[in-house]
Amino acid sequence: MADIGLIGTKARKNGKVVEGVDIYMGGKVGKDAKLGSRTMKGIPCEDLKPVMRDLLIKHFDAQPLNVDVVSRDAHPGGRSRTRVDEPADYDNGNGKNGQAQTAVVAFAKSGKEITCSQAEFILDVAEREGLELDSDCRSGICGTCKQKLLAGKVTYDEDPEALTAGDRAQGMILTCSAHPVGRVEIDA
Ligand code: FES
Repeated sequence: MADIGLIGTKARKNGKVVEGVDIYMGGKVGKDAKLGSRTMKGIPCEDLKPVMRDLLIKHFDAQPLNVDVVSRDAHPGGRSRTRVDEPADYDNGNGKNGQAQTAVVAFAKSGKEITCSQAEFILDVAEREGLELDSDCRSGICGTCKQKLLAGKVTYDEDPEALTAGDRAQGMILTCSAHPVGRVEIDA
């Protein structure tokens, strides 16, 4: 039984495309192998540790250890980095105790309301539930995934290139790069 599966993909961090993974859960290995369903998409490898930690705590009753872990960047050619962020430092919507905070994304046009983690991107949440939103680069560069935020607040890991000050003033967000905070409503 494979409870968590990782598939390599491209992810975006600090405006750059980096090595990342999609996370699948509920799949099987061996005879009758199946992939399971995609739970999270485009997690940069260097951010994987706190995300996996949250999943293990949330879905497998893992108990967190309060240890300060120091490690070297495992990616040759990557940016120099000597400390692996503990979950409290991971700002993709995780709370101070390292557990992913719950959010709700409401899609006004389709009438769907989806509970998710604040660590997820709104576009991924929509796709997981079968909603097809326009997207292209999935990296905050092209602007294809722009949608209007009707209510609530979103955060970004960094300022996305494709979101201008004018867009922000009009309440536009980039769903490929925006994390929901609490309850948000999107005009889609
Ligand atoms: S898909 Fe290109 S900016 Fe979101």
